[in-house]
This record gives sequence, structure tokens and C-alpha cells, in this order.
Amino acid sequence: MEKRIRLGIFGFGCVGQGLYNVLNHTRGINASIRKICIRHPEKKRTLEASYFTTDRDEIINDPEIDVIVELIDDVQAAYEIVTSALKKRKAVVSANKKMIAEHLDELIRLQAEYKVSFLYEASCCASIPIIRNLEEYYDNELLRSVTGILNGSTNYILTHIFQHNKSFEKALKEAQEMGFAESDPRLDTEGYDAKYKLMIILVHAFGIVLRPDEVFNYGIQHLNDFDIRYAREKNMTVKLIARCRKIGNKVYGYCMPEFVPVSDTLNKVNYEYNGLILEGAFSENQFFMGKGAGGNSTGSAVLSDISALTYEYKYEYKKIDQHLNYRYSNDHLLEVFVRYNAKVKIDAGDFENIAVRYESADFNYIIAKVNLQHLMQFKWLADPDINIILTENNA
Ligand SMILES: NC(=O)c1ccc[n+]([C@@H]2O[C@H](COP(=O)([O-])OP(=O)(O)OC[C@H]3O[C@@H](n4cnc5c(N)ncnc54)[C@H](OP(=O)(O)O)[C@@H]3O)[C@@H](O)[C@H]2O)c1
Repeated sequence: MEKRIRLGIFGFGCVGQGLYNVLNHTRGINASIRKICIRHPEKKRTLEASYFTTDRDEIINDPEIDVIVELIDDVQAAYEIVTSALKKRKAVVSANKKMIAEHLDELIRLQAEYKVSFLYEASCCASIPIIRNLEEYYDNELLRSVTGILNGSTNYILTHIFQHNKSFEKALKEAQEMGFAESDPRLDTEGYDAKYKLMIILVHAFGIVLRPDEVFNYGIQHLNDFDIRYAREKNMTVKLIARCRKIGNKVYGYCMPEFVPVSDTLNKVNYEYNGLILEGAFSENQFFMGKGAGGNSTGSAVLSDISALTYEYKYEYKKIDQHLNYRYSNDHLLEVFVRYNAKVKIDAGDFENIAVRYESADFNYIIAKVNLQHLMQFKWLADPDINIILTENNA
């Protein structure tokens, strides 16, 4: 039977206010807000002061509150809130991908130990229902790959660069003003946010639990006019794409910028939208698209998790339980475009083979094959005079 839920919410920023708005416009959900914990009591709020507290224990220890909704931008505090709530056998909903990705192992263990639900649909692609789909619909071993644009903020920036000729800085500022960017925008631009989401997808797609340092991420922060001109000349754009794929018993994954032909499905995913292509052994490709950032769209996914708790839904981590024994490995060959300038010396020995080498007064590039596990070790990854983009020939 559907039960009534009393919510204790942490955070009343972009997503917290989005949730309040969505909840207010939804008739069918038997849930009400009892208290909201925020950090700055002096901030002007749109709700009465009696809703708010700065004392986290007032919520965690309230026996009347049965569901904790964690929507804050402080990872350490979020970890403490979520783990103490689970240990008190309160169900938790969270949108905090960094915190979840960094503590996946422990969070899965706590759910089993305390027999309590921890749902986090909004953490992956905001409005796109991907986690519950991976758990329930793709609940077998026939899934082959997940490929997606998982970060709304960088997708917004890249769309404005390629479609409206805006500068990187101007597009980032706009993404921040519209509430699409993380409080620390490097999490978006350097590919960490998309990597954290990929790690969550890896658990529900293939039953693989990893640490963040095991998955490669490279962002769009080195993208310059030469890269953009190169892409345009080849009738392509650049998108920040996260992938994971199973070949036999081996699974690999990464998040990197890629050249994407203008006609490609993922090129239909623009601005703050996210898009995922799921490939099944027999179902072939399925394409999901929806808003990947923003208060109301993320709030909708949080509300859907709250609604699922009214019928006591919990993730079963079916792929882990099926003992599929997939092995995660970065031993995988990629074709990369590496652009650099005269200040930089590229060592041919870093690559398996170099198919194209171009040199000019302004910029140089090579197109070459490189093993992902070697690429992860390269000292020059952080050099701003070098940019790496995957070619369109990687699947
Ligand atoms: N924005 C998006 O589109 C989006 C999409 C998907 C997931 N997310 C995730 O959702 C979470 C929230 O993001 P947001 O964009 O809503 O952030 P935000 O607009 O910066 O709001 C953060 C909220 O958290 C509160 N807060 C911070 N530290 C706190 C603490 N220690 N105790 C209690 N409250 C605290 C802040 O309080 P004050 O109001 O007092 O400052 C604020 O209300 C993050 O994990 C983010 O990664 C965001």
C-alpha cells in the first residue's frame, strides 16, 4: 500500500527549489516537506522562516521524518548526512554524483546492512530516467554499451561555441547564470562530473564498482580556435562523451571530447540537454534524450525517486548479484587527434602508430593510436598547449 512520506530536505538552491516547485504542482504524491536544512540563514528565501534550520541533527534525529532528500553542493557534508541517515534506517534520495561516485562501495554496503533504500536517479542525467531503466528494463546481461552526453553545462558551452560562435568564457558564464554549472565549474569542464555519472552507470549497467582514479576523464578546457576550425572543416562538432562498452568479459570506459559528425545522433543533443545511446545485443540502439541540468528538470527526477519510495522501491543491484564477473580494463586502443604548438615536443614513442602528422606556423597535430592505459599515465595531459580529442573512428 502507498504510504505517506514526510521529507527532511538538505539544500534549497537550484535543485532544492526545483523540487519544491515540482512537488507543489503534483497532486498524486503523498509527500510533504517537514523541514529544510540550509547553510546560510541570512539568505532571503521564498518560503516562511519556520521551514528552515541550519542544524542537521534536527532533521536526522526527527522520528517524524522518514525520507531524507540530500541536495547540497558540499560533498563531505553530503557524505556525512547520507551515511548517518542510512544508519538510522531513513531512506535517502540524493542528486550528488561526486559524493556517490566517491563512496559507491560503502553506500551499496550500507543499503544492504541497514535494509534501507538509497535512490539517486537525478545524479546521472537529471531528467532522463536511466538508472531505474538499467536496473529494471535492462536487467540481464544483453546490454553491450552505454554512450552519452552526460554533462549539461559543457554541452551548453560546446553548443554555443559551434552554433553561435561564442567564446568558451562567455558560454561558461551563461551556463553558470542559468544554474546548469557545478559550484566548481572545473568539475564540468575537466570531465569529472561526466566521469562520476559514468561510474554510477557502470554499476547499474555492468555491476562494476570502481574508484574515480580508475576511470579516465579529459575535459574541454584546452579546446581552442584551431580545434574548432579543424572540426568545422571536416563537417563535425566536438562533444564531451562518456562511454562504457563490454567486449566478451571485459568492460572499458572513459569520458573524453570527441569529434562528432554533424549527421550523428548525438549531435542532436544540444544546449543543457543530455543524451544516451544504449546498445543491446538484440535490441540494438535505443536513444534517450532529456534536460540534463536545471532546477525543475532535476527536481522532477528527485520527485520520481520520492514517489518510488511510497511503494518501497530499492535498487537491487541486479548486475552485481548476477555475479557476471566482468573485468574492468583500460587496455583498449583509441584513435586520438593531438593538437600542440611549437613549444611542445610530442614523443612518437607514446603512440602505437601515427597515421597523420601536420605541421604549420600556427599549430601542429597528429592523428595516432594510443592505448588508454598508457594515455592515463602521460605527463603532458595537463599541459594547456596540448589538446586531445578522440577521432570519429572510436566506438
Ligand atoms: N543544478 C543542476 O542542474 C544539478 C543537476 C543534477 C544534479 N545536481 C546536484 O544537486 C546538488 C545541488 O546542486 P544545486 O545546483 O542545487 O546547488 P546550489 O544551487 O549551489 O545549492 C546548494 C544548496 O545547498 C545548501 N548547502 C550547502 N552546504 C550545506 C550544508 N553543509 N548543510 C546544509 N545545506 C547546505 C546551500 O545552502 P544556502 O542556500 O544556505 O547557501 C544551498 O541551498 C549537487 O550535488 C549537484 O551536483 C545539480
